[in-house]
Amino acid sequence: MSAAALLVAILAALGAAVAAALHDPVVLVGLLAALSAFAAAVAAGAAAVQLRAPNTLTEPRHPQGPSAPPPLPDDVLARRGAFGRLWWIAFAAFALAGLEPLISLGRMPRRNGTAWRGGARLVTPQGTPLRPDDLAVGGVTTVFPEGRVDAPESAVLLLRLQDGVMQLGPERRDWVQQGNVAFSKICTHAGCPVAIFRHLTYELYCPCHQSVFDVLHGAQPVSGPATRALPQLALDLDRDGYLVARGDFAEPVGPDSWWRTL
Ligand code: FES
Repeated sequence: MSAAALLVAILAALGAAVAAALHDPVVLVGLLAALSAFAAAVAAGAAAVQLRAPNTLTEPRHPQGPSAPPPLPDDVLARRGAFGRLWWIAFAAFALAGLEPLISLGRMPRRNGTAWRGGARLVTPQGTPLRPDDLAVGGVTTVFPEGRVDAPESAVLLLRLQDGVMQLGPERRDWVQQGNVAFSKICTHAGCPVAIFRHLTYELYCPCHQSVFDVLHGAQPVSGPATRALPQLALDLDRDGYLVARGDFAEPVGPDSWWRTL
């Protein structure tokens, strides 16, 4: 009974380690780990009963001195030896199962990263790539990296302004292409989509808690609860004249609390 339970514990622990390594659902990993712990507890309990010394031991008369305990029967010693080796195997399996989640922490993707990469075209939610003239001056649209329109954290507001109206620092001047400028659509206050562009005042407006961002100055917050600018996406043109990203955002998108939870 105890050996069978211990074997179950070992197999479940190895299964949890393999499931974690293969990125199976965390529920499966948790269930296997729980099964392993339960089986190990059963094995320990059964072993305590099976391997205890018999109630009646025959003690030779003073063969090793008056204080020496009576020797255990050979079959009990043999079972303890075999069972002890099985427990060492079980400990190794438990260690493996515990190690894999720790190792996987190092493999986790950068949580403040998005799907934007250098050369990724800006496409509409329908997947249409955009050229600098596709938006009318004063226009705004939501874009995603080509092939990743399913990545909500990568949503970007593409705005078309009059050429030269932006008032960015020297390091960002060439992030604008023919009046096209791009900012993360995820509000830095609580993560709502920034949905409204007031062209006359060059302001982006978040309807959730009324944060207002000054587009001309790099989408700095000017009122409302947001305290951080909307991250700007540096733009470039590819050989075919389509708008592309120069890389991922330089800062995390969304509220700071998103990136503190690891
Ligand atoms: S989420 Fe945008 S102002 Fe609160």
